[in-house]
Amino acid sequence: MGSSTNKVVLGLQWGDEGKGKVIDQLAESTDVVVRCQGGANAGHTVVVGGRKTVLHLLPSGILHERATCIIGNGVVVEPKALADELDELSAGGADVASRLLISDRAQLVLPCHKALDAAYEQAKGKGKVGTTMRGIGPAYMDKMARTGLRAGDLADPAWIDRLRAHLVAQNRIIAALGGRPVEVEQAIITLRPYLKRMAPLVADTTAWLHRAAAANKTMMFEGAQGVLLDIDHGTYPYVTSSNTGVGGVITGSGLSHRQLGEVIGVVKAYTTRVGGGPFPVELANETGGKGDEIRRRGGEFGATTGRPRRCGWLDLAAVGFACRLNGVDSIALTKLDILDPETVLPVCVAYELDGKRLDGVPANLNELARVKPIYETLPGWQASTVGVQRWQDLPAKARDYVAFIEKTLGVPVKWIGTGPGREATVCR
Ligand code: GDP
Ligand code: IMO
Ligand code: MG
Repeated sequence: MGSSTNKVVLGLQWGDEGKGKVIDQLAESTDVVVRCQGGANAGHTVVVGGRKTVLHLLPSGILHERATCIIGNGVVVEPKALADELDELSAGGADVASRLLISDRAQLVLPCHKALDAAYEQAKGKGKVGTTMRGIGPAYMDKMARTGLRAGDLADPAWIDRLRAHLVAQNRIIAALGGRPVEVEQAIITLRPYLKRMAPLVADTTAWLHRAAAANKTMMFEGAQGVLLDIDHGTYPYVTSSNTGVGGVITGSGLSHRQLGEVIGVVKAYTTRVGGGPFPVELANETGGKGDEIRRRGGEFGATTGRPRRCGWLDLAAVGFACRLNGVDSIALTKLDILDPETVLPVCVAYELDGKRLDGVPANLNELARVKPIYETLPGWQASTVGVQRWQDLPAKARDYVAFIEKTLGVPVKWIGTGPGREATVCR
């Protein structure tokens, strides 16, 4: 028990790798599931008994009654998004509020942050990031500027005055950017009931987690977004505003590196990206193109925004980089079934720039836009893997594809997804 059985689950691409399904599955044997960074920009899909639930702020372990779910200090929490999600789950019969705690150190996403998100994107014009418009970047800006409001501030009788002053100050920036300022008094009236609902869930989750660790509770840390969207190591500036790897787990939970346990990287059997920014393995995504075909077959439309995802072949140059950054111990490979009909499967094993093979992902955006993927082409298996649960029941060429990934990355693939449902998984 304890840290040796703890697990960190991280996306190793540009998000939407299928973390929700993996976390839901592993949560069965977990006492505590912790979100450590990001906010309602995440969209984690869990399918149980054919029923689909998309979680944004709530940890994906919430569907297991045993699990206590923690929204850690590194998360940015939008009170309305939280209330909406709780309502949606309770309408489906789940009593979740009694198993949920929100860190008193977590920053709040306020209406001004959403307005700022829109205003910054507008101001960037063609260079816009393509954010989820959930106010994530501006909320983290406020945190770093030391001007943000935190969940624990709700207990302070003067918080309404602080909120008012804050909205007024932020409105000046929104106006300067040509955005739509927030109606301050109306925003406060609208926010009040959401904040009131949130208040009883707010606690010192850092202290709580330390007590849980001392009591040998098993924990899982749920990554959001993906390592290539990390604010430091991702394809900056086309990234999110938090650290999406193990670093974010430590700072965003308040636990030490000793508590992390096994680091599991989730990798989609091909690659997707939503929003702007360089994407070396991108395929033709217009109607009739290969990318479009994979998008349709894989249902690659954003779980949060509904936007079509850009698609490409598997990029092990990017995944290898993500593995090295995070000390990944094992891989959960998802959506293998989506590749079933392909005749050939090109896999990018490295990037080349100006005729030179690189051993990572360049930081410079212009260089990244110019890299050429070096592909090794594997044969497709052209047989159904849908719903397969045993390694030996996978077609030989599908097993070869998995073995190639393991060999190239030097990391074992312990889980293979063969469908969206909880049960459609090969465990090795
Ligand atoms: P997350 O953000 O990493 O949790 O991933 P998303 O939920 O945004 O997107 C993953 C999508 O793939 C969801 O619609 C899942 O239901 C689906 N999915 C996950 N694993 C598998 C799999 O192995 N096969 C298939 N066909 N779909 C999967
Ligand atoms: P999950 O957890 C995929 C992308 C956005 C945009 C960039 C910045 O479901 O994998 P933001 O709103 O965070 O400021 O947007 O990051 N992005 C995601 N892409 N999956 C996600 O989450 C994402 N969260 C943010 O599309 O390119
Ligand atoms: Mg998602």
